[in-house]
Amino acid sequence: MRLVLSMMSVAVLAAACSGAATVPPVAGPPAAATALADPWLRPAAVPFTEGNAPNAARIELGRALFFDPRLSGSNMISCAWCHNPARGWADGQATAIGHGFKRLGRATPTVLNTAYNPLQMWDGRKSTLEDQALGPIGSPDEMNLPLDKMVAKLSAIPGYRPMFEAAYPDEGISQQTVAKAIASFERTVVSTSAPFDRWRQGEGHAMSESAQRGFALFNGKANCALCHQGFNFTDNGFHNIGVRSLTDSEDEGRFAHRKVKVLKGAFKTPTLRDIDLTAPYMHNGVYKTLEEVVDHYDRGGDVKANLSPNIKPLGLSPGEKADLVAFMKALTGTPAHVEVPTLPVD
Ligand code: HEC
Ligand code: HEC
Repeated sequence: MRLVLSMMSVAVLAAACSGAATVPPVAGPPAAATALADPWLRPAAVPFTEGNAPNAARIELGRALFFDPRLSGSNMISCAWCHNPARGWADGQATAIGHGFKRLGRATPTVLNTAYNPLQMWDGRKSTLEDQALGPIGSPDEMNLPLDKMVAKLSAIPGYRPMFEAAYPDEGISQQTVAKAIASFERTVVSTSAPFDRWRQGEGHAMSESAQRGFALFNGKANCALCHQGFNFTDNGFHNIGVRSLTDSEDEGRFAHRKVKVLKGAFKTPTLRDIDLTAPYMHNGVYKTLEEVVDHYDRGGDVKANLSPNIKPLGLSPGEKADLVAFMKALTGTPAHVEVPTLPVD
């Protein structure tokens, strides 16, 4: 069950959501009510898993764990190695680089707004952030630290003990408390106000005219909003959009977990928030630029087997393509101050 956090009680999260305070004075209903009613604007409340309401101690512990390379067998790889805040919480690689610099099969998605995802991963195989957090630590290809060893290793670092005690009194240092703390930190990584948001809130010039035309195309001729909808620009669904493979082995995507034919080669619709910061694009990083992504949709995808019926050639003019790209670039939020922790030692 997912609950909604009262922002009033958590100063740290409230600061991260301060975008609402920038609503310009407009005639009509109060600004806060307007923001809540607009499906294209992020709701200030961040959902969380029952039994793990975020508080300052949980967030600080999670922040330390997220940035701590001691959560890997090599003492080199933290979550932030792949989910780097300076790279839009991704890594700039076509596909991720794991333990021993091994090239993995899929691109690193951003952790921005993952608090709002009903399902995590390109194939949706995880649901809550708590479910997701231990996977990369234990995986031999990623952080390569067996989870029982992780608990022993963290327990031997004196600086962590008071942090766990403050965050989860009487629960101890365990796989569960590690996962809960990391998830609490991730719930602070939310999108900030972008030119698009300010334009929605009534600042007519916050977004260029080209970007405004792009938004109209996004909802109209280009039909992007069919899948990239709402404040997080995703329907949280899975679609095969005809992305060509870069290797001999075929990635079946969602089909590996739900054997329904339409899900063969289908991947989760990713958020487009801060999309300009997270090139390359797609589950396999096949495109280096947003222009290449728009060309992909314009030609109706590449692989036709099991292609979504909603992917068809669009017949966009060069100007229309540029407008769509300008619109997507207007989804980059004001840079958030990311506090990198001093790691606990002794
Ligand atoms: C080696 C690089 C790497 C490391 C280290 C890593 N991740 Fe990831 N992360 C990925 C990749 C790649 C995926 C997508 C994998 C897939 O879909 O099969 C992913 C997916 C995710 C997602 C799902 C995002 C979404 O939109 O579906 C979350 C959340 C996440 N990682 C959090 C973490 C946390 C927390 C840690 C540390 C405990 C971590 N990751 C460590 C590469 C990494
Ligand atoms: C039928 C649903 C659907 C439609 C329509 C659609 N998309 Fe997508 N989009 C997806 C899915 C699913 C992916 C991930 C596909 C993959 O990696 O194989 C994606 C990926 C992307 C990405 C890469 C995101 C990233 O983080 O790698 C961008 C950018 C994008 N779409 C923009 C658009 C634009 C612009 C349009 C309209 C021209 C559009 N999409 C239409 C479903 C859709």
